[in-house]
Amino acid sequence: MEQYIIKGGNPLVGEVEIGGAKNAALPILAAAVMTDETVIIENMPDVRDTNVLIQAMESIGVIVERVDRHTVKINASQIHTLVIEDDFIKKIRASYYLLGALLGKYKRAEVSLPGGCNIGSRPIDQHIKGFKALGAEVEISHGLIRTEAKKLVANHIYLDVVSVGATINVMMAAVMAEGKTTIENAAKEPHVVDLANFLNSMGANIKGAGTDVIRIKGVEKLHKTEYAIIPDQIEAGTFMFAAAVTKGDVTVKNVIPKHLESISAKLLEIGCEIEESDDAVRVVAAKPLTHTHVKTLPYPGFPTDMQPQIAVALGLSQGTSIVTESIFENRFKYVDELTRMGANIKVEGNTAIIDGVPKYTGASITVPDLRAGAALVMAALAAEGYSTMDDIRYIERGYEDFPQKLQNLGAQIAKVTAEKDIQKFKLKIV
Ligand code: UD1
Repeated sequence: MEQYIIKGGNPLVGEVEIGGAKNAALPILAAAVMTDETVIIENMPDVRDTNVLIQAMESIGVIVERVDRHTVKINASQIHTLVIEDDFIKKIRASYYLLGALLGKYKRAEVSLPGGCNIGSRPIDQHIKGFKALGAEVEISHGLIRTEAKKLVANHIYLDVVSVGATINVMMAAVMAEGKTTIENAAKEPHVVDLANFLNSMGANIKGAGTDVIRIKGVEKLHKTEYAIIPDQIEAGTFMFAAAVTKGDVTVKNVIPKHLESISAKLLEIGCEIEESDDAVRVVAAKPLTHTHVKTLPYPGFPTDMQPQIAVALGLSQGTSIVTESIFENRFKYVDELTRMGANIKVEGNTAIIDGVPKYTGASITVPDLRAGAALVMAALAAEGYSTMDDIRYIERGYEDFPQKLQNLGAQIAKVTAEKDIQKFKLKIV
């Protein structure tokens, strides 16, 4: 079984290059099937989620060529089925973006219904509401969601909750609908804007992405494009908080500092220094960290995908902090593991009350989900002694070369597959 072995205690120091945003790459990959012409996508992260979505696309006849590690060429002129099989959706929920993309292009799609997830129940009622508003019929049976329309006609759609996924799926379905669609209460995340820019570069007419009202004028068809994905806000934020918890000095490069504002603001509040330039942010943690309160919110609020990382930092901050999770109901599952490393955290409903401790101690940890996994690695890097981390496949869903990037910053971490590798790692360190 693959594991990380980590010896904590080294401050992270140096520079790290941030890759393309996973959560932008997934809808952009799906949207690339909406033209029969060849689309080139650059800055594609090489992570498990994007690779599984590419496999799902290949399974329906999309031709995907890797030009290099981070560039793919996609041609969807040979699609032979509009059914996405169970296997793929089980591995990644974002396969459901093919629902909006295929419905938009072929007026029909059939995808296994995404199942539950480690961070709580994840309904898709708003996606369905949007498809129906555009004139599609939607039927759920035998674990499949089928959607079909004679033709798609624009409409005024108000989303009851701010949902990244629903905004994206409805946007794709509306791009070639007849007339002008308005999506109100839309999500404003950078990846929503990136998808809109990508679709516009293919000939779509989308305005207002990044605000809560998106207006889409239907076009007849989309054409080829060459497009580079934005940098990953959450990967960048993870390394910024890793600098804080290890009392380090890290410059995250190839980022859009504007996307990191809520993260930088919290780091400043807890006592870090932040230096921003055009495409980099430096985090220096020279002073002891102090407590703060944080509530996760849709963008531009503090991202739920950074909640475990900030909690790990607050666990080592002087005083009492309160973390409120307002997006997903079950996102504190990592707290038990962190407690085993010495953290003092009490969870009540959607709130975690954190009393800072002076240090964590290494432990053998099971990773519960993607972002919590990255956060627990950070805790292990700050901890006294050795930690091992199981179920690292969750981390690999969204972080490219995570151990290597951390090693380059001075972390003592290795990916191992056998007990003898752990011994070798320990001998090398001593
Ligand atoms: C996306 C991100 C995920 C991030 C989340 C919130 C991707 C692949 N995943 O997930 O990393 O944590 O945004 O920023 O981009 N909801 C409904 N009905 C719906 C849809 C959503 O009630 O039809 C609720 C959800 O239960 C949740 C909230 O809306 O409470 C936000 O979810 P949403 O923004 O849709 O998250 P995802 O798109 O699944």
